[in-house]
Amino acid sequence: LSLCGVVVLLAYLFGSFPTGYLAGKLLKGIDIREVGSGSTGATNVLRTLGKVPGGFVLLIDALKGVLAINLGYALFNIAYSQNLIPPTVNPGIWQPYLVTLAGLAALLGHSKSIFLGFTGGKSVASGVGILLAINWQIGLSTLGVFAVVIAISRIVSLSSICGAIAVSILMVIFHQPLAYILLGLTGGLYVIIRHRSNIERLIAGTEPKIGQKVETQT
Ligand code: G3P
Repeated sequence: LSLCGVVVLLAYLFGSFPTGYLAGKLLKGIDIREVGSGSTGATNVLRTLGKVPGGFVLLIDALKGVLAINLGYALFNIAYSQNLIPPTVNPGIWQPYLVTLAGLAALLGHSKSIFLGFTGGKSVASGVGILLAINWQIGLSTLGVFAVVIAISRIVSLSSICGAIAVSILMVIFHQPLAYILLGLTGGLYVIIRHRSNIERLIAGTEPKIGQKVETQT
């Protein structure tokens, strides 16, 4: 149990690292949460600060997910090799559950950062990092869904939502353990819920397309 606690806490702290907020402060002296969509994610950084900062934030935020997953793997392996986990525990079954907890904690940290008064992004970039670290084929397939939708619609939020829906299906197609299917379902649902305001704008037909200048929306 304490192993779960340590993993969740550290993964949450990784996820909380406020990349987009720091980019806004350091590059333009602004609070990114007060412009555009109000999100600290890479899309809003791209919209507000440009392509290079947007790409950089995307990379670092994805890396947070990669780190959280590898932390889950590593701490499980250390605890197992030190006999801190009962020998009756089947690592093949239980390691994915610990990794799942790490992933969900990182997603939560990214959008409810302890460093930003529990505000943040929409957990898309960190989610991609999580998927790539668990299974790169699933990560790339999710990015493929994202790419197809963005090529057609030019709307990032719609592409993220479609990617989030695809994750659980891909987990099943790629024969992943139950823990990762549950990660796909809960993480995907969480990302969709984080897009509430985008969904309202999509229905109203006011969601901006890539490259479109926007007034502050939230
Ligand atoms: O990465 C989040 C994206 O799906 C939507 O971001 O800033 O348009 O709300 P934003």
